Amino acid sequence: MKIDAITIFPEYFAPLQLSLLGKAQESGLLSINVHDLRAHTTDVHHTVDDAPYGGGAGMVMLADVWGNAIDGVLHDDADLIILTPAGRRFDQQMAEELSHAKRLIFACGRYEGIDDRVREHYSQTQYADRNIRVREVSIGDYVLGGGEVAAMVMIESITRLVPGVLGNPLSLAEESHNEEGYLEYPNFTRPKEWRGLEVPDVLLSGNHGAIATWRSSQARERKDTNSN
Ligand code: ADE
Repeated sequence: MKIDAITIFPEYFAPLQLSLLGKAQESGLLSINVHDLRAHTTDVHHTVDDAPYGGGAGMVMLADVWGNAIDGVLHDDADLIILTPAGRRFDQQMAEELSHAKRLIFACGRYEGIDDRVREHYSQTQYADRNIRVREVSIGDYVLGGGEVAAMVMIESITRLVPGVLGNPLSLAEESHNEEGYLEYPNFTRPKEWRGLEVPDVLLSGNHGAIATWRSSQARERKDTNSN
């Protein structure tokens, strides 16, 4: 899988070099390239934004600069993801869908977002015919300072579903059972007693049927407790 992220703050993406994602890039399973939007500006001040037509607070990012940056990384068979709090809510199902993509391009807007003609332009049939899909995505109902952290959340959850990226693929198989809407059950490890709290007996019983039943009931309970 090839990933490009376009941002005015490339340094934000440094953590992607760590841990399993760093290893997956070293082994060639993944390539992640971060691009500085300002490299595509055309004026001496490296301007990326301007006041909105129609008035209102904040600044809007320039279509022309974004168009140049996106054109520079665009290939056939790609998903262009525009991060915005107004986008479709990201969830595990979208992560699973995007984990099969060949190329992902993350457009990380700041301020009041990117001139909407960028979305409109790349949604045209000339791009659809090249298998280029545009999606506006939000990682949740809250407003971040920009799309960078949102892109990292998406990259981490999507890439761990790419075969070979995760150290232990068995944990993925277990998770997929939980995608039916159950959150995971609580886990315990040594010691059997910690600060007066005991590990539930059933987990020490060696009875795999009873353990599975207990875990699924605990997962349900946890889900009820934590549901909004
Ligand atoms: N940019 C600002 N807030 C965001 C959010 N919640 N999701 C994605 N991009 C954003």
